[in-house]
Amino acid sequence: MSEIPPLDSLVRLLPLTTISDARGDLGVAEVKQLCGFSAERFYFLYGGLGARGGHAHRRLRQLMISLAGQVEITVDSGREKKTYILDSRKNGLEINPVVWRDIVLSPDAVLGVLASEPYDESEYIRDYETFRDVVSLHN
Ligand code: TYD
Repeated sequence: MSEIPPLDSLVRLLPLTTISDARGDLGVAEVKQLCGFSAERFYFLYGGLGARGGHAHRRLRQLMISLAGQVEITVDSGREKKTYILDSRKNGLEINPVVWRDIVLSPDAVLGVLASEPYDESEYIRDYETFRDVVSLHN
């Protein structure tokens, strides 16, 4: 069995492009170029009232961008944990498969998520013990 990859190789904070002129700002995420996957789906979380996430994905790759407010994302590789505060439209958080995440949005937050695949409940891992088993099988 090989080692669990470092968390920093599974989750990366990536700079987005901002184009500003007299009319305002324009943010760009060239998803394929930046993350190496094509976005099949866009969804967004808002109306933050409580903790979200609490799962990992078997296959899904994502790029998360805080479009408004503040979003706290704690990621866990099964060996290392790290909390990112997303409060800028200038960065996106890339999350690769088999990373557990817990997400807290401020009430005014809007979190945009670009996802590599259509929604498929069967590729979610919603139980932490199962996640630990998948991590050890995967590595
Ligand atoms: P879930 O992924 O559990 O939300 P979070 O991780 O933010 O807490 O999704 C909540 C519900 O929405 C769940 O019933 C699945 C459904 N859902 C879709 O139908 N399509 C989607 O693209 C997503 C992301 C969720």
